[in-house]
Amino acid sequence: MINDAMREMVVDTAGLATWESICEGAGLSPSVRFASDETFPDSVTYDLVASASKVLDAPAAALLENFGAYWFGFSMRSGYGDLYGAAGANLLAFLQQLDAMHARLALAMPEFEAPSFRVSDVDEEGLKLHYHSKRPGLHPFVKGLVVALGDHFGQPVTMTLIQSRDEGASHEVFALKFATGVNQ
Ligand code: HEM
Repeated sequence: MINDAMREMVVDTAGLATWESICEGAGLSPSVRFASDETFPDSVTYDLVASASKVLDAPAAALLENFGAYWFGFSMRSGYGDLYGAAGANLLAFLQQLDAMHARLALAMPEFEAPSFRVSDVDEEGLKLHYHSKRPGLHPFVKGLVVALGDHFGQPVTMTLIQSRDEGASHEVFALKFATGVNQ
């Protein structure tokens, strides 16, 4: 599903020929499709991102951040929009139930390896978001997605990575600042 969203984003924004070059660079057939009920090794996704970074001449982190924002719209359109409505009235409530939401998705998808999120240090202006995952290097995706979620809830946020596995920490921590207050 993730790879299919990436395909849709590239085809929409850069055209089919660009997507085909990216596939070639990742050692995949240009006509490859990713059925949502099939599971693909993580290496396919990492190879696609690395190839896209070369073909589009853009840093992988920037592509992942854009992709995070795109993923929000893609999952809304792909029949998961109800999850966003049902899952909390504001960004704080939504983030607090993100693990439960992925756990529900895991029931339907085989071999799902969910990330885990925890909220701490909530005050009037912001909070800390802890991100645990078996997969390295995807924190820019989380950033793009959470910023898009904030816009969806009418709660624009700025997000700073304050701790990362890239620097040897056990997991990533983001500081979120809310323009309009956490409980609006
Ligand atoms: C309805 C919306 C959503 C759907 C359908 C969805 C579905 C998925 C799927 C299918 C995967 C791949 C897991 C695997 O193959 O093992 C995934 C991974 C992931 N999801 Fe979600 N997700 C949704 C919302 C969110 C939101 C709101 C966040 C917020 C940050 C999020 C963060 C992530 C991250 C960071 C990963 C990467 C995997 C990792 O770090 O190990 N997802 N999600």
